Amino acid sequence: MNKKLIVGNWKMNGGLAANAALLQALKAGLPQGGTAGVAVAVPSAYLAQAQAELAGSPIGVAAQDVSQHEAGAYTGELSAGMLKEFGTRYVLVGHSERRQYHGETDAVVALKAQAALSKGVTPIVCVGETLAEREAGQTEQVVKRQLAAVIHQVGHCVSELVVAYEPVWAIGTGKTATPEQAQAVHAVLRAQLLAATPKAADIALLYGGSMNAANAEQLLAQADIDGGLVGGASLKAADFLTIIAAAR
Ligand code: 13P
Repeated sequence: MNKKLIVGNWKMNGGLAANAALLQALKAGLPQGGTAGVAVAVPSAYLAQAQAELAGSPIGVAAQDVSQHEAGAYTGELSAGMLKEFGTRYVLVGHSERRQYHGETDAVVALKAQAALSKGVTPIVCVGETLAEREAGQTEQVVKRQLAAVIHQVGHCVSELVVAYEPVWAIGTGKTATPEQAQAVHAVLRAQLLAATPKAADIALLYGGSMNAANAEQLLAQADIDGGLVGGASLKAADFLTIIAAAR
């Protein structure tokens, strides 16, 4: 079985002092013997701080977004090359908040994944259905469409992706998918990846959406759930460490 991967997504939260305290607490509290892989996706302004604080620690630095372009007149954007320069190991692409508030399409998300891969930054490709889509019975169709765009774009590099299933209705709402609901979608995604690469079993499939210290263990026990993408609970050291400890 794969080593599990737990990624904290701080979203637009933090500050220099709070970040330093949180990162120091995580470093101090990380279980010995390195069970799960761990990373924190920090706001871009804090990438340098996270890189410095986490130097020499097994906790990886992740970014929350990347431009699909390599360089040029794209005010406000960050390139994959820039992320790489700050020691960034992972970058979220296609988070539902980017799709929803910044109009990111499947095609743009796919280009972002490719841009990250081209610089050796691992994209964490986020997919997930809205409540309306779930209620209309479209969950499978939506997540497959979102993932297919990326698979098509990256070709044989598909085995280098991390994929995160985040049902939009479970994000920040306290409504978690049940372990069975999450596993059912993860199995669909695994089958889709298997059709694209013989290495599909090695691709980490993370669950995200109100994962917390109380529900992580059950979710992470599912056959196709290889880790978590944790929002709110990643801002509290004790809760995030409990989730990491549950990822055996
Ligand atoms: P919450 O854990 O706060 O629901 O956020 C999930 C998420 O969007 C992580 O990317």
